[in-house]
Amino acid sequence: MPKYRIAWMPGDGIGVDVMDAAKIVLDAIKLDAAYVPADIGWDFWRTEGDALPQRTVDTLRSCDCALFAAITSKPKEEAERELVPELRGTGLVYRSPIVRLRQLFDLYVNLRPCKAFKGNPLNFRDDLNLVVFRENTQGLYAGVEFHPLPTAVRTALEAASSGMAAFQGVDSADIALSTRIFTRQGCQRILRQAFEYAKKHGYPTVTLVEKANVIRETSGLMVREARKIAAGYPGIELWETNVDAMAMWLVKNPQDYGVIVSSNMFGDIISDLCAQLVGGLGFAASGNIGDSFAVFEPTHGSAPKYAGQYVANPTAMLLAVKLMLDWLGEGDLASRLEKAIAEVIAEGAVRTYDLGGSASTLDVARAVAKKLV
Ligand code: NAI
Ligand code: MG
Repeated sequence: MPKYRIAWMPGDGIGVDVMDAAKIVLDAIKLDAAYVPADIGWDFWRTEGDALPQRTVDTLRSCDCALFAAITSKPKEEAERELVPELRGTGLVYRSPIVRLRQLFDLYVNLRPCKAFKGNPLNFRDDLNLVVFRENTQGLYAGVEFHPLPTAVRTALEAASSGMAAFQGVDSADIALSTRIFTRQGCQRILRQAFEYAKKHGYPTVTLVEKANVIRETSGLMVREARKIAAGYPGIELWETNVDAMAMWLVKNPQDYGVIVSSNMFGDIISDLCAQLVGGLGFAASGNIGDSFAVFEPTHGSAPKYAGQYVANPTAMLLAVKLMLDWLGEGDLASRLEKAIAEVIAEGAVRTYDLGGSASTLDVARAVAKKLV
């Protein structure tokens, strides 16, 4: 029996193309694994009313971890219109399968390393090695939202917060509310992961990105917990920043930063900024990691206009494979893979269109694979 069972979820559009690239590299590296196909994405929404069918969740539960490429998502009304006729008007509501995966499997860490590979013409600078830890299950993306504002919620808010005076006289039908819920445990566990990573990899600082001067309770809780946890890591300095200023500093002096930790939405935004500093969507990989399961993915979407053309840059997908190997405890294979990717980038002979080249998705994968055998 193979050592690992890995759920295999190409999803939609270029997801299929870059997963083919991942397979070439995994075969070359001879990972002892079974790859178990699992359905996810737009076709399953259209035909079954569920982009993440229960059978996929069951498959995932039987696996060590999952590789996922990309899915197509569309706004509520459009999603409803594209359902097969017999499912239309049945009250089905499209929900992002990746957000559901994070919640179902409690994948509370979103790990996004952003490393500048030597010779990447898209680098903002060549000396960057940032790693973003984004809280992945709470905050503004937890889905506790209302529109119109229910009377019970309004009444409770008016009784509890003088801030509601600002909305006096506004019809509840005209008020939308998205909540930002943090728990102490939720703050602690993402912070601990960030500090542990900094310790293990020798980073001298952990930068917390919040906005505690304005969002006093949620960001404030995160800052207070960060100070307590930092006390347990004497060699590592905690830098407290505000998200707006941090956006500026990351463009001005990104080389000053290493491990960055933030809540769900701020972390989402900051990690896209960091990704662009090292080449953007073609290079940005992430791990959605919990205590016993993880899903690894490139952060780009399904890029419908390039679907099936095999022109997308597979590097982000290959870096997601690297993250998976690290998580599985296959550190040597992970390092070999990263070295092979780095060499192909540095040599510059096999490049996809985003780097000014004309190589295909699979050409790049084969060039990386060649360095692995
Ligand atoms: P996208 O990431 O799919 O593509 C935007 C543009 O970036 C593409 O048109 C292409 O020019 C470039 N690009 C993306 N990946 C690339 C790669 N590997 N190599 C070279 N160029 C690349 O974002 P977009 O167009 O906003 O969304 C398309 C669909 O993907 C939507 O349905 C969206 O909801 C979904 N999406 C899914 C995500 C996921 O599966 N995690 C994340 C982002 C978007
Ligand atoms: Mg994002």
